[in-house]
Amino acid sequence: MNGINGQLLIIFGASGDLTERKLIPSLMNLYQGGHLPESFAVLGVSRSDMDDADFRKKVALENPHIPETVGNFGDRKEFAKRLFYHDLESYTESYEGLKQRIDALDEEQGTQGNFMFYLSVPPRIYETIASKLDDQGLSSEEGGTRRLIVEKPFGYDLESARELNTGLQRYFRESQIFRIDHYLGKETVQNLLVTRFSNSIFEPLWNRNYIRHVEITNAESVGVGKRGGYYDSAGALRDMFQNHLLQIISLVVMEPPIGPDAEEIRNEKVKALKSLRIMRDPETLYKHTIRGQYMAGEIDGKAVPGYREEEGVDPESTTETYAALKFYVDNWRWAEVPFYVRTAKRMPTKVTEVVIHFKSPHHQIFRDIGMDSKDNKLIIRIQPNEGILIKFGVKVPGQGFQVERANLDFYYSDMTDANIMAAYERLLLDAMQGDATLYARADEVEAAWEFVDPILTYWEQSEDVVTYGYSAGVWGPRNADDLIEGAYGWRNPGTHLTDDPGFCVIT
Ligand code: BG6
Repeated sequence: MNGINGQLLIIFGASGDLTERKLIPSLMNLYQGGHLPESFAVLGVSRSDMDDADFRKKVALENPHIPETVGNFGDRKEFAKRLFYHDLESYTESYEGLKQRIDALDEEQGTQGNFMFYLSVPPRIYETIASKLDDQGLSSEEGGTRRLIVEKPFGYDLESARELNTGLQRYFRESQIFRIDHYLGKETVQNLLVTRFSNSIFEPLWNRNYIRHVEITNAESVGVGKRGGYYDSAGALRDMFQNHLLQIISLVVMEPPIGPDAEEIRNEKVKALKSLRIMRDPETLYKHTIRGQYMAGEIDGKAVPGYREEEGVDPESTTETYAALKFYVDNWRWAEVPFYVRTAKRMPTKVTEVVIHFKSPHHQIFRDIGMDSKDNKLIIRIQPNEGILIKFGVKVPGQGFQVERANLDFYYSDMTDANIMAAYERLLLDAMQGDATLYARADEVEAAWEFVDPILTYWEQSEDVVTYGYSAGVWGPRNADDLIEGAYGWRNPGTHLTDDPGFCVIT
């Protein structure tokens, strides 16, 4: 039970997709794993006309996102008894009725006045909800813990992110606000910290003296699906880079924290984000940023539509579904080490990985053609086929000293005892325990926007910017390959960690 006291989780926007797809399935898993407190209940709140029974049916008993293999149906029925629903006419009405319901449930379920409010609603109503909760005394921690979890997008640009922060902080203290970024809930993202700071074989090399460049790929084979309406006004940079990728980048870049506490780690992450060199002049922005958009093509042998044909997308849209950036980090550790980062939809496969390219030995004894592409690499695979791969040179048997590259690989799946929690499970549990390490702090979010804002403005306003088309199922526009100088290119990974560049999976 992890020492968590009773908890009442109040989900705003409970009739939406996230509750059904992620939140309830995660809670169900936590319940089955015995991780939830004895006294635990969920109150779904939204504007749909439902009662407790309808809600239980929708999100638990008949939820297609809870695999049948998860526990037995008896468990599901038991779990469903802890779910309740409250219908709000509108989010702006008085929450007096809601407060009464919360108090009644608290009493009945023994949740000890510990309330966690989860906002799975559009960010424009975050502040309204926070103020209405405050009106009812529900932000005050006098009678128990009161926490507010907010979903992304956290702001549309720097200014709106600042407004959101100020708006929420009017009613809740920063220590009560948990900004969720589900990438931080991924084991492999957290493992970046462990790889770096618990191994003396990596950390001494983790700097400009030994690292030539850093490459990060985040590829998805899916398109925008039914989210065209939202995505068309967001684009890849806002949807993925500003949050998930900058979180990964901050973990790669940061200095060792003094200790493992949330604030120590978050302080270093903010410092890392602030040390990214903000691109402001048009020439750099032109040369170091690339935007692309997928066109009709084939993925896994199936024809898929182009972005402009997707539901909810403007047929003349220039929104990017592919973004690639080159940038530098202005601090002692990373001076003049280029970072290349790309994120995209409709790529040949779904994969996220960080590749650390080490410099060649200062003095090359074994001269060999193509040594550049045989550089030592550390590949940290975030997903799928989670693991770590080291590429190093070995002698090819026979006469002379011909060098070939060999693999040293580790897979999480080999740690058979490890029961890997899904991202939302871990994050929900952490929030219940009040551990904010894996949540983004206000200044962290703002520092991320500070880096992204000038790129977005340039893309929106400059006449030089073009959106390159790429066929669905290829690794993005061709010119993105030129972003990486020299004999290096992107490592186009396959589903399996040890697949070599250029390999792509067609099943
Ligand atoms: C979400 C984005 O935050 O992350 C989606 O809004 C994207 O567009 C998703 O598909 C990717 O998450 P994951 O965990 O599947 O890599």
